[in-house]
This record gives sequence, structure tokens and C-alpha cells, in this order.
Amino acid sequence: MKFFIDTANLDEIRAANELGVLDGVTTNPSLVAKIVEDPERFTYEDFKEHIAKICTILDGPVSAEVTTLTADEMVSQGEELASIAGNVVVKCPLTLEGLKAVRTLSSKGIRTNATLVFSPTQAILAAKAGASFVSPFVGRLDDISTEGMALIEQIVSIYGNYRFSTEVLVASVRHPQHVVEAAMMGADVATLPFKVIEQLARHPLTDNGLDRFMQDAAVFK
Ligand code: G3P
Repeated sequence: MKFFIDTANLDEIRAANELGVLDGVTTNPSLVAKIVEDPERFTYEDFKEHIAKICTILDGPVSAEVTTLTADEMVSQGEELASIAGNVVVKCPLTLEGLKAVRTLSSKGIRTNATLVFSPTQAILAAKAGASFVSPFVGRLDDISTEGMALIEQIVSIYGNYRFSTEVLVASVRHPQHVVEAAMMGADVATLPFKVIEQLARHPLTDNGLDRFMQDAAVFK
């Protein structure tokens, strides 16, 4: 199972990368907006430079999202984003236009991530269009009283039936239990906020046990 970090924050990406368990990064316009200090001055060039900085931190896939709505615009923006670094994956929304863009970009050898996926039918289309990754948003489904992880189970099962090579990337992860369930279902990737990566390591019995070991180790001095 691969772990990506779901952030555009360079400090968080560096810190997660130092743990030695990070395989990639996902960003989206909302995550990029969070790191902008002066929105009046932040340009599209600044956005591309920021993606370039992320790509210098690690070699794994770095998803950068298009901010256009027609297939032609997404393809041209996607080509521009992909030219930033070899590990950029172009994220396109799962709309009819987005599907066309995914097909065109993937036929040009550019890796894509079909995002904003909320149904198994959208996931089937993403795979048929040749997406490298499909991003179902589990937390946002939970938010509307729909079991987000049930969608992951459906997609993993459907992709297995047809041996689709598109990787299932569990997105909008909110807590460690999403990660456990994703792993049990055989999802390929989970993209996690930094806080959830930290939570994965924590256990009160580890802390209590360590306190005791340290106290007992005092007799060795
Ligand atoms: O990976 C998608 C993610 O950034 C959306 O997360 O918490 O805004 O639903 P959230």
C-alpha cells in the first residue's frame, strides 16, 4: 500500500518524507490556496514554481490539478504542468470534459489522476479513459451520510474483475480508520493529511510502555 500526503505545505511534505514512508503527494486548488501568503500577488507562475519545489523533495508522483473546464484547455494546461517535472501527475475532474482530457493526456504518455469521484460508474469511466489513478473522496461521502468506504470496496472489486491498471487512490481521508479499511480492501494508495500520518503512529500503550521502560532503564545508570 502506498501513502501519499495530501497537502501543498512544503514543511509537511519534507517532514513526512523524512519518516521514510512517503510515496507521493497530492494537491488540489484548495490545498494550494492554503499555502498562499499574499493572494493578491500569487500568480499561475508561482503555482507552477511551487509544484516544482514539491517535485524536488521526492521522486514519487506529485498530483497537480488543472483549473480549466474544457477538454482542450485541460489538455494544454496538463501538458504545461507535466513539463514541470517527470513525476507530475495531472489531476482532472471526473466530468465528461475531464474524461476526454484524461484520454488525450494518457495517450500522450502523461500520467493522470481522475479526481472528484463519488460513484463506481465514474471510477469505471476513469479506468476506461486510461487514468493512472482514480481518486474517490471518502470523507466527503461520509459528510452526507453515505458510507465512503463502501465506494472503495466497490471500485477495488470492479477493477479486480477487469484487471484495470488504474490505481485506486483513497482521497478525502479524515482519520486512521479510513486507512485501516482501505488497506483491508486492498486499495493501492491512501492520500493522507499530515495529521493523519502522525495519528497512524500513535498508541497510548506505546507511550505508557515507553515511559515505564525509561523509568526502569534508570537503574542501569
Ligand atoms: O484528496 C482530496 C482532499 O484534499 C479532499 O479532502 O477533506 O477537503 O474532503 P477534504
